[in-house]
Order: sequence, then C-alpha cells, then structure tokens
Amino acid sequence: MGKFEAALRQISGGDHLWGEHLKYILSGNERGAEIVDKMVNHFVGPLEGRRVLDIGCGYGGVCISAAKHGAFARGIEVGSSELEHFQLNLEDNGVKDVVNITFGDADDIEFMASLGKYDLVICDNVLEHVPDSHRLIYTIAEAMNEQSRCYVTVPNYLSLGQVLMECHNREFGLSLLNRFDAQELYEARGHYGRYSVGDYFDYNQYLALFAINGINAVNIVPIARDDQAMAEALDLLAQIKQKRANMRDDIAIERRAAEYVDHYIDRVERRLVELERSPTEWRRVEFFRDFMVQRFDFVGQIRTY
Ligand SMILES: C[S@@+](CC[C@H](N)C(=O)[O-])C[C@H]1O[C@@H](n2cnc3c(N)ncnc32)[C@H](O)[C@@H]1O
Repeated sequence: MGKFEAALRQISGGDHLWGEHLKYILSGNERGAEIVDKMVNHFVGPLEGRRVLDIGCGYGGVCISAAKHGAFARGIEVGSSELEHFQLNLEDNGVKDVVNITFGDADDIEFMASLGKYDLVICDNVLEHVPDSHRLIYTIAEAMNEQSRCYVTVPNYLSLGQVLMECHNREFGLSLLNRFDAQELYEARGHYGRYSVGDYFDYNQYLALFAINGINAVNIVPIARDDQAMAEALDLLAQIKQKRANMRDDIAIERRAAEYVDHYIDRVERRLVELERSPTEWRRVEFFRDFMVQRFDFVGQIRTY
C-alpha cells in the first residue's frame, strides 16, 4: 500500500457513506487512466509534450495518467484534503515533478482564463457540483483552441438507476429534486451530511449548454437497446414503483418528492407506450439514452464554422 492509500485509510470519514466514497477515491487512478487512454486512442492522439487540464481533479488520477503519457498536466481543485492527498498520490507514482497541482476555484472566470489554453480539457464528475454549470462549460470552452478536445462526464439524473439510488448520496428520488429540496429530503431521512449536488440537466440541455458556448459535443457512452436492456428497464421501473408506494405521506418534503416521482413514472410510461406503438430505432435509442444510460461522457471540440 502506498502513502496515498495509507493516509486515506487513516481518515474515519464520519458519515455512513465514507466506505463507498473511499472506494470511489481509490478507483480514481484507474478511472483517470481509462479516460486518458480513451482520449489518446480515439480523439487526440499521443500526448507527449502536450497540455492537459483536469478541472476538479480530486485526487489526481487523470493528471497522473496524462503525465505518464508525457503531457504537461495541470489539476485544478478547491478541496484542501484532495490536494494534500493528491500530492501523496503523485509521489507514489513517481510523477511529482511533472504535474502542476493548482489550488483554485473553477467558478472564477478570471482565474481560469489566467491558466491559458490546453490540448485536452477534462472535467470528470464535477459539472453537477459547481454553483453554475453553464459558467463552467464557458470556462472549459475558453481553455480550448480549435485543435483541442474536451471530455466531460456527468451522471444522467433521469436514468432509472439514478432515480432509484442517486449516485452521490445513495437515496431514492433525490436526483429528481432541486438542490434545496434534495437537502431537505436528505435531512428528513435522518442524514446530516451536505448534499453536494447543485444542478442536474438532461441530455439535450447539456448539448445546448455546450452549443451556446461554441462546443460541438457528442455522448460516447454506448447505448444498449436489446431485449435484455428492456427487461432491466422494466425491472428498475417496478422497483421505483415499489419504493414510491412505500414513501411516507406524513412528512411534507416526502410528499413533495412523491409528486416528482409520480411525474417521472408517468413520463417513463408514456415513452414506453410510444415505443410500443412505434418501435423505430431512434425511439429505442432515445428511450435507453434518456432512462438507462447512467452517465454521459461528452467529447467536444470548438465549432469552427
Ligand atoms: C465528484 S468529485 C470528482 C473528482 C475527480 N474529477 C474524479 O472523477 O475522481 C468532484 C470534485 O470537484 C471539486 N470541485 C467542486 N467544485 C469545484 C470548483 N468550483 N473548483 C474546483 N474544483 C471543484 C471537488 O472538490 C471534488 O474534488
């Protein structure tokens, strides 16, 4: 075990989700390497001597992998614990001197502009945590030139899996609520941590946010749409209905959340009816993209026309 993992295992975490969170943190180097390899192999080519920016870099998995590919890598992060442990992660990986760790707020447009342009800009599971997702997409666009590519990952809050269990706080129905209601619901269920998600958007809204900022983006997460995927979707929907039936009606915020869940169930069922009436390929793609893909991986480039 390296210094990084040993230091993390010393932390007690303090809430019921720490175990899950630790697993996520410890998977960071592998996730980072997967992202960088995918971008190198399919979208940007070799990174030797090129500039990579990871916004909201957490514990540094992306930067470490990019540095191992020979890039100049910079990670931006506001969390002091993340940065402290990132340093240990760099040391364990022998790339301490070739990665620039920068403390800073990605929401600060002037600060971000001062960092210059990059060949590859990565923003992995951060967009939903900042106060203003639109501003962050603007910032990503500003850090790119015509040859750059960006890679932006966000959870799909409308997927049946996310509705059943929101990926950050692992609660039923939370992803459907705005940040204030979600916090209230989280507390009403007896938890005291902060709900760290700001806003979620759907697929078309994200594409529009990219387009407004001059980025053409595509989702590269494969969309399974066979009979097995349909059986899984129906099973998840049945689980959601079961959870909905068990929601408490003596607490105002639970009643409000139940309305959102009802609306969501109705929306999914209407789409299923449409699909049955007119089972075209594009309807299938849209159904499974909207309700089964757990996250979107957007790859984008600056529009030049
Ligand atoms: C879910 S974590 C993802 C970390 C990393 N990208 C990964 O996928 O492992 C979100 C990260 O974004 C960082 N973050 C949130 N708001 C930020 C901001 N305004 N500026 C810079 N970093 C931010 C958090 O501190 C946290 O490390």
